[in-house]
Parts: sequence; structure tokens; C-alpha cells
Amino acid sequence: MKVTWRLADGREITGEVANGLNMMEAAVANNVPHVIGECGGNLSCAPCHVYVDEAWREKTGEVGDFEDDMLDVAEAERLPQSRLSCQITASPELDGLVLIVPEP
Ligand code: FES
Repeated sequence: MKVTWRLADGREITGEVANGLNMMEAAVANNVPHVIGECGGNLSCAPCHVYVDEAWREKTGEVGDFEDDMLDVAEAERLPQSRLSCQITASPELDGLVLIVPEP
């Protein structure tokens, strides 16, 4: 599947992502700046915070309870479309997904 990350400076990075990989791992593999997986996807950091493009919000599902707590302490402003990217898993339904990387 393809994922596009929109950066705060207007650049876009599009990468091919294997199904089953989470979006933090995918961002690291595609050298997307400012998406960092300090905890390796264990829900105990927040720098993997991204904003899901409005068109993809429903498909990416609901924020989990622990994720909700971590988003409250994320550095960038929390918005309704905020997610921890390690909690979104690549799947064929998400082909074309667009994620917005918060301003560093
Ligand atoms: Fe730590 Fe996502 S990588 S919460």
C-alpha cells in the first residue's frame, strides 16, 4: 500500500508500505522527519503523533484508551484527527492513506 506524509514545510513523502507494518515503522523506513518511535510502538511515548487527513479518519478507526492518554501529553497540539502513528497498521483498505506530520 502507499502512504503519503505531508510535512509542515509543504513537502510530501510517499512510500510503499508492507501490510502489517505500523505507520511509525513505515515513517522511519521512509525517512520521514519528525516521526519518532522512541518506545518502539509500545504506547509509552508520543513523538510518533500525526494528524490523519480528514478523508481517512473513519477508515483508520478510533483512538484507543492508552493512546488517548498519550495524545494528551504529545508535544504538538492535539486535534480531533490526532493519532499515534504506531497504532495505525498498514492494510489494503488504507492504500493511499495521507498523514500530516505536526510542526516540529
Ligand atoms: Fe511510542 Fe508510538 S512509538 S507511542
